[in-house]
Amino acid sequence: MGSIDSTSLLNEATGGTAVGDQFPLLPERVKEASAHLNGSALHEHALKKVADAPAPPITYPPSPWKPRFELENHGIDEARSLRVVVIGAGLSGVLAGILLPAKVPKIDLTIYEKNADVGGTWFENVYPGVRCDIPANVYQSTFTPRTQWSEKFAQGSEILQYWQDQARKYDVYRYVKFNSSIQTAEWSDDEAKWIITIKNTSTNETFVDRADFVITATGRFNHWKLPEYPGIGDYKGVLRHTSNWDPSFDPKGKNVAVIGNGASGIQVVPNLQPIVNRLDHYARNKTWIAGSWAGDERTFEPQYFSAEELESFKDDQTYLKYRKELEAQYWRRFASTFRGSQENEEMRENFIKIMRQRLAKKPELLDSLVPDFSPNCRRLTPGPGYLEAITEDNVDFVQTPIKRFTETGIETVDGKHREVDAIFCATGSHAVPQYKIIARGVNLSETWKPEGKYGFPYTYLGLATPGFPNLLYVHGPHAAGPSGTVPHAVEVQLTYYAKLLRKVSSQGIRTVEPSKQAADDFVEYSDAYFATTVLTDNCSSWANGGKAGLRISGMWPGSAAHVTIVRKEPRWEDWEYTYLAKSQNRFAYFGNGWTTKEADPESDIASYLKVPSEIDLKDLHEKWWDWP
Ligand SMILES: Cc1cc2nc3c(=O)[nH]c(=O)nc-3n(C[C@H](O)[C@H](O)[C@H](O)COP(=O)(O)OP(=O)(O)OC[C@H]3O[C@@H](n4cnc5c(N)ncnc54)[C@H](O)[C@@H]3O)c2cc1C
Ligand SMILES: NC(=O)c1ccc[n+]([C@@H]2O[C@H](COP(=O)([O-])OP(=O)(O)OC[C@H]3O[C@@H](n4cnc5c(N)ncnc54)[C@H](OP(=O)(O)O)[C@@H]3O)[C@@H](O)[C@H]2O)c1
Repeated sequence: MGSIDSTSLLNEATGGTAVGDQFPLLPERVKEASAHLNGSALHEHALKKVADAPAPPITYPPSPWKPRFELENHGIDEARSLRVVVIGAGLSGVLAGILLPAKVPKIDLTIYEKNADVGGTWFENVYPGVRCDIPANVYQSTFTPRTQWSEKFAQGSEILQYWQDQARKYDVYRYVKFNSSIQTAEWSDDEAKWIITIKNTSTNETFVDRADFVITATGRFNHWKLPEYPGIGDYKGVLRHTSNWDPSFDPKGKNVAVIGNGASGIQVVPNLQPIVNRLDHYARNKTWIAGSWAGDERTFEPQYFSAEELESFKDDQTYLKYRKELEAQYWRRFASTFRGSQENEEMRENFIKIMRQRLAKKPELLDSLVPDFSPNCRRLTPGPGYLEAITEDNVDFVQTPIKRFTETGIETVDGKHREVDAIFCATGSHAVPQYKIIARGVNLSETWKPEGKYGFPYTYLGLATPGFPNLLYVHGPHAAGPSGTVPHAVEVQLTYYAKLLRKVSSQGIRTVEPSKQAADDFVEYSDAYFATTVLTDNCSSWANGGKAGLRISGMWPGSAAHVTIVRKEPRWEDWEYTYLAKSQNRFAYFGNGWTTKEADPESDIASYLKVPSEIDLKDLHEKWWDWP
């Protein structure tokens, strides 16, 4: 072999650029090291080796059928920043504001909230007696428990305080824009962005924002609805939904009506009954009153923790033991949801016994209350004080359907008219979002309405809907199982989204949406599953969109533990992707073959090495943030 000119060989090997210059995105100090390499003795050594190598490789012609694939000049671990808009700052939005920035590098997050502060349900619902009907120690984040709840079943104001404290502690407020009500979110295929119109509720001005992703966290009970009876507009007294309570109205000594015997009606009735002159309670359907949720003692009076209990909770281990035992009860009350199960049968007998005892003053009411559907068809409500209240002499328990509202009160279909100073409607909420989410000419909410294209909230695993790219729901349809806790379900769902957002931002993905086949398979599974449960008994509930016979979309088809497993490991094969690269090559994000970390001589490239006693083989090499 004759002698070879090292410079021309280098040019041939590098296409004329110096090592390091080929990767202009590499950190400066790496380029400096490369520049040094280009002129050093080491360089000579490398050339000698190259000189002995075979001839340069053949250049293959580009594929004729798609744009020429070009290497992207970046490390594989160079994620792009995603602009993410969360709608709503209830506990779901607050948890999103805590978890997403912690789990999604470079996220550019804004949370729009129509109210003046965070808290959602607990900010808005201030009717007399509003409180958690499960223990406060079970209704909090898994990672920052409050040990010093004053009552076992905390009042709404204390729960609100807790979530506002969380928002402060984790600096969520910096992401939230208040008094900002989303009017529409419209998808642009050209831009691959959601174009969001927001109304400033203080000034009534609207403005537009854009986002790569929209995550709805607008709650299932936030879009409250008044009933649509004839004459409702004529009524001249105080007319309020319980979620829109007027704190300036003093019901003391007044004649009032409460419509609805869902959880809100059941909670407000015993709190109004002792102070009003007369209470007409319109309950058109029967319902179960649960003794308790999971074996807890319930009383109408506040159930305070003793000073000794609270002191003992200051010890981490004591509190953890208490918390785990209490929370476990809420994960283990699942068997009673199955039709014909012994647990459900026992529940029915137990509830009838309790209801009979508590209705002792007017035993005839038992027949008016015990439904022909099974317990758990509607969400259970312990309703402390409710049955006692409706047996009191100043309460008229009205099951005759309402015919119309008048200027002074309510007339039922039997012609009876009852005059009242105020009407409180505990009449529930719309099952579908009341703002517009539009993609490719389709309004999501319209398709979800009973008369719409799907007729129910059509989703893939309660996460997203085919045809609506880059749109995710937190605690929306199929949010959680009938067991477990709301905050746990929300945290797990947000963790799924963190994985999805990391995948999108790090793998050159432009859009992502679930496949129709996957969504259809989920609906098929859900239908078969719910048919085995009492949720498909003949009752109306928010789980079936308020009408017996409609599909169950309010619950996860399985237990809370079950949905946790499903959402822990995303099935990426159920999603459809488009890519940022012109070539649409799914591997374009591989970049220049480097990781930015390895290109940085200062980085801890062997961060995976640990003291052996700190290693757990179960999660060895599974930490998303740790790579060489
Ligand atoms: C009176 C009441 C009592 C409850 N008690 C319990 C209980 O004891 N235990 C339990 O597990 N669950 C209970 N729930 C259910 C409760 O709603 C959930 O547990 C939980 O609070 C839901 O939180 P979220 O953040 O998902 O929704 P929400 O708390 O409803 O928050 C949604 C947020 O989205 C905002 N929003 C809505 N639309 C827009 C828009 N267009 N633009 C901007 N912002 C918007 C709202 O203002 C709100 O702040 C109760 C519900 C009600 C109504
Ligand atoms: N911590 C708590 O104690 C608590 C308190 C409140 C709410 N919550 C939560 O919030 C959920 C929603 O509870 P909610 O009570 O607000 O709503 P809900 O469970 O949907 O109940 C709505 C009630 O209003 C009645 N209603 C609706 N439209 C009516 C009409 N036109 N005329 C007469 N009655 C009408 C319904 O009767 P039909 O059944 O006949 O349709 C039902 O009794 C609960 O399931 C629970 O998860 C919890």
